[in-house]
Amino acid sequence: MTETETATASESGTFRIGTFVVNRLGFGSMRLTGRGVWGAPEDREQALDTLRRAPELGVNFIDTADSYGPDVAEQLIGDALRGYPGLLIATKAGLTRPGPDQWMPNGRPEYLIERAKGSLKRLGVEQIGLWQLHRIDPRVPMQDQFAAIKQLLDDGVIANAGLSEVSIEEIEAASQYFKVATVQNRYNLVDRGSEDVLDYCESNSIGFIPWFPLAAGDLARPGGVLDSIAKRHDATPGQIALAWMLKRSPIMLPIPGTSKVKHLEQNVAAARIRLTDDEFDELNQRVR
Ligand SMILES: NC(=O)c1ccc[n+]([C@@H]2O[C@H](COP(=O)([O-])OP(=O)(O)OC[C@H]3O[C@@H](n4cnc5c(N)ncnc54)[C@H](OP(=O)(O)O)[C@@H]3O)[C@@H](O)[C@H]2O)c1
Repeated sequence: MTETETATASESGTFRIGTFVVNRLGFGSMRLTGRGVWGAPEDREQALDTLRRAPELGVNFIDTADSYGPDVAEQLIGDALRGYPGLLIATKAGLTRPGPDQWMPNGRPEYLIERAKGSLKRLGVEQIGLWQLHRIDPRVPMQDQFAAIKQLLDDGVIANAGLSEVSIEEIEAASQYFKVATVQNRYNLVDRGSEDVLDYCESNSIGFIPWFPLAAGDLARPGGVLDSIAKRHDATPGQIALAWMLKRSPIMLPIPGTSKVKHLEQNVAAARIRLTDDEFDELNQRVR
């Protein structure tokens, strides 16, 4: 047995989002849909099994969006986990889908509100624990989009609100309207363009949700700079990439995405890996 085989997400530590206390290592549901994040999964049972396995492994923070499918990922989560206690399902809206691999912002207030209410039905919940604006739509005044989010909070449709792909200035502008609970920006060991936003979130106790934590799978493949440290820990390269992330900041909430139970189990097992300060520094220097 390796040091990681029986680990659960609770070993990654916790973070509070409103009244929810989640285990920091979560799950991203974008990979559960068909090719191009479009349509139904090729293997629906495998997708449902992956979702059902997540809370068994202590994962209680699941990221999704109305646009994954569209609607498909939310419906799968509703089908697999409706009524499961203690889960924080975080969804988003603000991107429309003209076709596979195509994404178009729509930040019209009435659209955002309608989509959030639709998410309630698809997920089978009475209130959305965390709702995130997927993108700020440049064609709609930013303030109108933030006011719509405030309305969703005031009306109790959502309990907490976050943003995605934003700058510090945009977080500060949104904070005039509502408490920004989380920020979801692209970030991983080899893609650290959001360091300033991450540091800002840490200073302001805002949860930081890095998307593409495995660089869309590249960091999970052997043959790279992570191999030697992985060997030392009897781990996989992807587990080391996630362990690095968890060590980087206590507000970091990685949501690795997979469609497979085996990969989910591997990713969750990263919660047990403790990199030394020297290993952390080595990774910072070698991978930039
Ligand atoms: N806010 C935004 O704009 C935004 C954008 C993109 C994504 N997201 C969110 O962030 C989440 C994470 O991003 P992501 O899923 O795109 O990328 P990711 O987590 O960096 O990588 C996912 C890819 O890695 C593979 N993978 C996962 N675990 C693996 C393992 N243990 N071994 C080998 N391969 C593995 C998956 O394939 P298999 O299915 O074969 O395991 C999948 O192709 C998404 O699911 C979504 O919830 C948000």
